[in-house]
Amino acid sequence: MRILRTIPEVRAAIREARGGGAMIGLVPTMGAFHDGHLSLMRAARAGSDLVVVSLFVNPTQFGANEDLTAYPRDEARDAALAEAAGVDILFAPAPSEIYPEGFATNIHVAGLSDVLDGASRGAHHFDGVATVVTKLFGIVRPDTAYFGQKDAQQVLVVRRVVRDLDLDVRIVVCPIVREADGLAMSSRNVYLDPAARVQATALNRALDAGAAVFEAGDAAAGSILSAARDVLGGAGIDPEYLELRDAETLRPLARVDRDALLAVAAHVGAARLIDNHVLRVAEAPNDTETEAGA
Ligand code: PAJ
Repeated sequence: MRILRTIPEVRAAIREARGGGAMIGLVPTMGAFHDGHLSLMRAARAGSDLVVVSLFVNPTQFGANEDLTAYPRDEARDAALAEAAGVDILFAPAPSEIYPEGFATNIHVAGLSDVLDGASRGAHHFDGVATVVTKLFGIVRPDTAYFGQKDAQQVLVVRRVVRDLDLDVRIVVCPIVREADGLAMSSRNVYLDPAARVQATALNRALDAGAAVFEAGDAAAGSILSAARDVLGGAGIDPEYLELRDAETLRPLARVDRDALLAVAAHVGAARLIDNHVLRVAEAPNDTETEAGA
């Protein structure tokens, strides 16, 4: 595995590989790798000839009161894990390589960026994500880029940028990787002390409880959210948000009459955590169509 720091070095390596007909896979990350990141790298390894992982703690997606300086960084450990996962190139640039003096462009995805985490953290968050991901696409020009469903809203924002700006990149979304007790893996889980680590399991349990209400036949948002809220309350968690929204548009839903995103964010101990479940509406059976046509 090669560790590259500059855009020209990456461009040269990609040009050479592409000349040999290689399909390029990109996994954008901020490091502090866990099995969630590694699952994306394995998917990229299986689906591409050349696997590029970017490791860049992107300052523009952090708010003034967020954890930019505290964010866990251990490049040597990350490099070893990436190499073991079969990564070919680790692109680990300095901030000045990505944001040189005079950098002035901002990509804002209206609507999708303004709700849920965008409302909690401010629109700058998804602007930062959209802008850096677009730059990474411009630098690497991947055939395929891999993202985790853990950050469901990020996936929607990135897909929208790809569509709106006609970027020629296929987006693959990988399922949420969880600890044995259901906690979604996150680089921020290292902030949890033992008591908060136990408390944090309530996020996934709350989403499970909401999903169970839906699966039992009650599609009303009120019922689903109150079941989830009860579990959070029982664990002493007051969520920053707990919402049910259209899984594609993120418009609020009063009933799950289409695929829905049940999403939560909460401060637990010293960490701000997010998690989500998708509630899927079964497709109308085919015989409806036959009857209508008959
Ligand atoms: P980061 O938080 O490092 O996550 C990198 C990728 O790993 C994202 O696509 C994220 O959704 C995925 N991921 C994180 N935890 C996961 C889990 N438990 N299961 C499955 N996938 C998981 O997301 C970012 O970095 C940044 O916003 C970035 C896209 C790199 C732009 O700066």
